[in-house]
Amino acid sequence: MTILITGGAGYIGSHCCVTFLQAGHDVVVVDNLINSRAQSLKRVEDITGCKLFFEEADIRDQDALERILAKYDCTAVIHFAGLKAVGESVSQPLDYYDCNVVGTHRLLKAMEATGVHQLIFSSSATVYGDPQYLPLTENHPTGPVNPYGRTKLMVEEMLTDVAASDPKWRFGILRYFNPVGAHASGAIGENPLGVPNNLMPFITQVADGRRDKLSVFGDDYDTRDGTGVRDYIHVVDLVEGHLKAYEALQARSGNDNCFTVNLGTGTGYSVLEMVRAFERASNKTVPLVIAPRREGDVAECYADTKKAEETLDWRAQRDLTAMCHDTWNWVCKNPRGYDD
Ligand code: NAD
Ligand code: WQD
Repeated sequence: MTILITGGAGYIGSHCCVTFLQAGHDVVVVDNLINSRAQSLKRVEDITGCKLFFEEADIRDQDALERILAKYDCTAVIHFAGLKAVGESVSQPLDYYDCNVVGTHRLLKAMEATGVHQLIFSSSATVYGDPQYLPLTENHPTGPVNPYGRTKLMVEEMLTDVAASDPKWRFGILRYFNPVGAHASGAIGENPLGVPNNLMPFITQVADGRRDKLSVFGDDYDTRDGTGVRDYIHVVDLVEGHLKAYEALQARSGNDNCFTVNLGTGTGYSVLEMVRAFERASNKTVPLVIAPRREGDVAECYADTKKAEETLDWRAQRDLTAMCHDTWNWVCKNPRGYDD
C-alpha cells in the first residue's frame, strides 16, 4: 500500500512527500533529478522522521515504472514530474510534449500493466488562457497560449478520455494557481536553477543581494495599482489539497471517476503588494524598476474556490504573511539552496 510520487524531489513534490508521510502513507519517489536534488528527499526524511524510497528514473521509461509500481505494491500515483518553464516551452516545444505528454502516456500504460488505476495530476491555471471572467471557475473555457499550457491541457484531455473508457480508473485533475512559500521548518523550499522566471524567487534573490533589482513587468494594466494580479497559494496548503483529493478519490465509484478542481486561495495580489509584503516579512528592501509588459501575461488571474470546498472539503489556510515569512526562512537557512 504505497503511493508513487513522480517528481517528488522537486519543489511541490517534496512538500507533498512530507504531507503524505505525516498522514501515515508509505511513499516511493520517481524522479530523474533534471530540475531537483536528491538532498530534498533526505530533508523530507529529517522533517518527518519517516523513511521514503527513492528510485532515480525517467517517467518515459515504461519498463522502469512497471518494475517500480510492482516492487512497492503501489496503489495510487501523484504525478508532479514534468517540465514547467513557459519560455523554454516556446523555444523547445518537442522537449515539453515529450516529457509532459509522452511521459504521462507511458506512466498510464505502466499503471494499466500493473493494475494501478488512481492518479492525481498537477495541472495549471495556465490552461484557462486569458480570463473571460473572474474568478475563474473550472468550467471557464480553456485556451492555453503557450506550449507548456497546451501540454497540460492535452494531459487533462487524455485523462478524461481514459476515465470515460473504464470506471476502474479514477483521476483527480488539480489546477494550481501560483504556488509560493516553503515548509515552516525552512528545510525544504523552492530551489530554482539559473535566473528565476517566477516572481517570488526573483524577489527573494533581490532581497538577499544576489540580484540588484526586480523588473516589474508592466504598471499599466487595468488593475488597482497597474501591476499584474495573481492568486498566490502557500505550497503547504497546495499539497494538503492533494491529500484531500486522494481521500476524495477513494470515495469515488462508477462513472463519477474524474474531477477537475482549482487549487487557489480566491484572492489576488498585485506585484507591488507582493513586494511590500515580502519587505515587511524579511525586513529587507527590494529595489525595483518598472519594465515593459512580459509577452503572454494577463492582467489578473484568480480562482473560484467553491468547487474545491465542495469536492475536497478543502480551502487554503495560510495568508500572504506566512507565504513571505516561510519563503524568507527557507532562503536564510539555505542561501545556496540544496547546494550547500
Ligand atoms: P519542479 O521542477 O520543482 O518539480 C518537477 C520534478 O519533476 C523535478 O524534481 C524534476 O526533476 C522532475 N522531472 C521532470 N521531468 C521528469 C521526467 N521525465 N522523469 C522523472 N522526473 C522528472 O516543479 P514544481 O514547481 O514542483 O512543479 C510540479 C508540477 O506542478 C509540474 O508538473 C508543474 O508543471 C506543475 N505546476 C507547477 C506550478 C508552479 O508554479 N510551480 C504551477 C502549476 C503547475
Ligand atoms: C507573476 C506576476 C508577472 C517576474 C507562471 C506560469 C504558470 C504557472 C505559474 C506553472 C506577473 C510579474 C514576474 C518578474 C514581474 N506555472 N513578474 N517580474 O506568470 O502568473 O504564472 O507561473 O504552471 O503557468 O505562467 O507567474 O510568478 O511568473 O508572475 O513583474 O521578474 O509577477 O508579470 O504579473 P505567472 P509569475
